[in-house]
Amino acid sequence: MKTRITELFGIQHPIIQGGMHYVGFAELAAAVSNAGGLGIITGLTQKTPELLAKEIARCREMTDKPFGVNLTFLPAVNQPDYPGYVKAIIDGGVKVVETAGNNPQQWLPVLKEAGIKVIHKCTSVRHALKAEAIGCDAISVDGFECGGHPGEDDVPNFILLPRAAEELKIPFVASGGMADGRSLVAALALGAEGMNMGTRFMATQEAPVHDNVKQAIVAASELDTRLIMRPLRNTERVLTNPATERVLQKERELGSAIAFADIAPEVAGVYPRIMQNGEMEAGVWSCGMVAGLINDVPSVQQLIDSIMSQAEALIAERLAGMLR
Ligand SMILES: Cc1cc2nc3c(=O)[nH]c(=O)nc-3n(C[C@H](O)[C@H](O)[C@H](O)COP(=O)(O)O)c2cc1C
Repeated sequence: MKTRITELFGIQHPIIQGGMHYVGFAELAAAVSNAGGLGIITGLTQKTPELLAKEIARCREMTDKPFGVNLTFLPAVNQPDYPGYVKAIIDGGVKVVETAGNNPQQWLPVLKEAGIKVIHKCTSVRHALKAEAIGCDAISVDGFECGGHPGEDDVPNFILLPRAAEELKIPFVASGGMADGRSLVAALALGAEGMNMGTRFMATQEAPVHDNVKQAIVAASELDTRLIMRPLRNTERVLTNPATERVLQKERELGSAIAFADIAPEVAGVYPRIMQNGEMEAGVWSCGMVAGLINDVPSVQQLIDSIMSQAEALIAERLAGMLR
């Protein structure tokens, strides 16, 4: 399949693996790229720029296909060493950066200078237009369904994607709720030129997370996620578990007086225990509603092959058949 996204990134299939904290290591990124998609290493999971440089080198040993690095710009008090991470990306010869969070404008000149393509993840049309205006090459349009941070507008992809198509000139992928060939065909019909997946890629054989995480996704239905941190205007979609319930209870008790410190024990620094040790109740963790569509733990190659063959059959047979 050829779209503006496959052309832009030099990949075979219009499928991207979104950056995921403590999931997006070299093993997963390389597996996605080797299967013809675009794998992405999560920059900030590497504690220092030196460690990111090593992770990029490790990924390059596992694939000769293009892969990217996610840089999430957080509104944190103690800012990560972003200049160092950007330098590691450039020195490592990476050609795609997925930015997310705050406006990436200040980093665009140096990334562009190095010939790097930038895809910015946005949850609204206005932010997507801003990203286009500052020179981003593509957008990942992240609907309300998504695992992680869906923003505060709550617009699902059935509305958000065609709205993005009406406004944007640069290509975009659909992100949030994407799982299979049906998702890809629907995304293309709504104006996207590919799709980005997070939760679906976490439940694959190569995802370097504890098996308990994969089994929790397989066991979950589309009813099993919750939105937390809305009162802090930092909404996150997470899987329901006792830690999630404790956060929501705190939010109900404290109302608008809530501060991050009140929920920090359930939220801050819990990912290594969950993703690596499989302590599923150690805290909250991002998960999309798409868990309801995930019933197996295939290899990345099997997943991408099945998405593409299902999408091609849907277009060539089911949809074309309706016109005959
Ligand atoms: C466990 C997990 C961790 C994530 N961490 C990040 C992150 O660090 N930076 C980021 O930009 N997006 C992050 N995301 C969002 C994904 O990149 C992607 O946009 C999202 O998962 C898409 O929705 P889906 O889960 O329905 O496919 C994360 C998602 C999950 C599920």
